[in-house]
Amino acid sequence: MTKVLVTGGAGYIGSHACKALAAAGYEPVAFDNLSTGWRDAVQFGPFEEGDLRDAESISEVVRKHSPAAIMHFASLAEVGQSMEDPALYWHTNVLGSLNLLQAAVDHGVPKFIFSSTCATYGDHDRVLLDENTPQRPINAYGASKLAVEQMLANFSGRFGFSYTIFRYFNVAGADASGEIGEFHDPETHLIPLAIDAATGRRPTLTIFGRDYPTPDGTCVRDYVHVSDLVDAHVAGLEYLEAGNPSNVFNLGTGHGFSVQQVVDVVANETGNNTPAKDGPRRAGDCAALVSGSARAGEVLGWSPDRSTLPQMVRDAMRWHAGKGYSG
Ligand SMILES: NC(=O)c1ccc[n+]([C@@H]2O[C@H](COP(=O)([O-])OP(=O)(O)OC[C@H]3O[C@@H](n4cnc5c(N)ncnc54)[C@H](O)[C@@H]3O)[C@@H](O)[C@H]2O)c1
Repeated sequence: MTKVLVTGGAGYIGSHACKALAAAGYEPVAFDNLSTGWRDAVQFGPFEEGDLRDAESISEVVRKHSPAAIMHFASLAEVGQSMEDPALYWHTNVLGSLNLLQAAVDHGVPKFIFSSTCATYGDHDRVLLDENTPQRPINAYGASKLAVEQMLANFSGRFGFSYTIFRYFNVAGADASGEIGEFHDPETHLIPLAIDAATGRRPTLTIFGRDYPTPDGTCVRDYVHVSDLVDAHVAGLEYLEAGNPSNVFNLGTGHGFSVQQVVDVVANETGNNTPAKDGPRRAGDCAALVSGSARAGEVLGWSPDRSTLPQMVRDAMRWHAGKGYSG
């Protein structure tokens, strides 16, 4: 079987990617330091424990498995934390990616797929952001991801491998089987936090800022189902395998929902009120980020079919009602 190295394979999106790769006939090898991921989430192929900041560790794993491609999900991904501790983000996300890319070059891995983010765009005076939108990140997380995008272009130009960059908007939901899902400790993402508040597992949800220039004053985001998102990654891998050139794709639905609208959908789906209180704006949060995603449809044939807000909330609720991970 063709091996694909999946960094961050014990995390939320990486574990779903491993499942999708296995279903498509690949052998996913998960590489993860378990800092925010879970050993229990690695269910679809071998596991290699290691840290990307340790150049020798990742080089040895790439040498050992000689994968046909690398999908690179491992990173730190919290805007607020990145503003508090930018060095941590540059060290983990940028230095870690540099070690990985160097290992890929040293051991001749020909294809690379990178998890980037809409946070690389920053604030713009239009809502819909396509791939040609100037990238002007306003937080260290987005800046670290943009640096890796540029690193990929530099390395690919010099060493000749091909890559796809996926810029995700907000990822939500869980695999329909209930085997894997989103499990962060502490949780920072809106939908799981709102579900916890609506089901009494946390006392209240904080809404950060009601004075943004959006229809109801709360931040607007574009939510995409994790299963749709990882399907795009498999399509992106097949696109490279067919000999197509490196490319960049947004992954979102083109529809924005405010924090308040998400809270209302969670209340509707759970049948409970979502206790919420207002807090101040968080440093680094953009007012509105909505994806112009036509390119992924046109080039990869991608069409997100599970990415309605009620469906994502229902799938997340099913997962949250289960056992989660214990290790
Ligand atoms: N969740 C979203 O809405 C979203 C949006 C845009 C982009 N992304 C990107 O998607 C990727 C995956 O995000 P996620 O939500 O699954 O996060 P996650 O925290 O669940 O997964 C990240 C994984 O990387 C591992 N990891 C972190 N640092 C590492 C290191 N130095 N060495 C080895 N492993 C390390 C963690 O243990 C974890 O398993 C990230 O690159 C993130 O920036 C996520």
